[in-house]
Amino acid sequence: MVRKVICALDTSDLKEAVTIVQRLSGYVGAFKIGHALVLPHGLDVVQRLQDVGASRIFLDLKFHDIPNSVALAVRQAVKYGVWMMTLHTAGGPAMMSAAVEEAQQSPFDVPPLLVGVSVLTSLDQHVLTDHLGIRRTIEEHLVYLSRLAVDCGLDGVVCSPQEVAAVRRALGHEGIIVVPGIRPAGAKTHDQVRVGTAQAALQDGADYLVIGRALTDCLDPQVALEALGFDVSESHPH
Ligand code: C5P
Repeated sequence: MVRKVICALDTSDLKEAVTIVQRLSGYVGAFKIGHALVLPHGLDVVQRLQDVGASRIFLDLKFHDIPNSVALAVRQAVKYGVWMMTLHTAGGPAMMSAAVEEAQQSPFDVPPLLVGVSVLTSLDQHVLTDHLGIRRTIEEHLVYLSRLAVDCGLDGVVCSPQEVAAVRRALGHEGIIVVPGIRPAGAKTHDQVRVGTAQAALQDGADYLVIGRALTDCLDPQVALEALGFDVSESHPH
């Protein structure tokens, strides 16, 4: 079992998601679901996946709205016992604080981890500067928003492999860093631009790695994890 690995379930097909969870739940620490699965199936999908072995669910809905609306959304999500969820740091301090306060009302022993999304990897410097009017470099802005997120009480942030080191430097030991865009060395990058290997991201200070296709496209989880550089000799299915 590689606890630091979060498998991304990027499908709208619940049957397919269930099959992937059954195949991988003995090997990875958590499963990430987003709009693709929640919009057609509702939040009941959380329980459905927990029932087939996904003990930790990362709800990636990237909340971004006025504080009251985000608090209402977090209130619904915590009822389902999700382990981690995302919100946009660009929503500002009041929005993040409202989310933190709401998460603390969780009926479960451990409240969900709230992690902040800052500069989407689909944005480049030209868009940030010339269209969004932000005068910082991508890295400066990302580090600035990550620091703000942790100061507002969020448990951590999301960033690409190429930014982990800078974010870790800025946060010190505070806050967890969740990193998508992980590929085996020399593998296909698909639509991702800022990619990196699992080992480099962990060395740079990542706490959790979100991995989608490199895991879900392979029928043998052990082979997939070994290709990603993990030692899975201890792993075994339930
Ligand atoms: O298949 P792959 O490993 O590229 O999947 C990565 C997952 O991480 C997807 O669910 C994607 O939405 C998510 N993600 C990302 N880049 C970000 C934030 C999230 O790829 N910057």
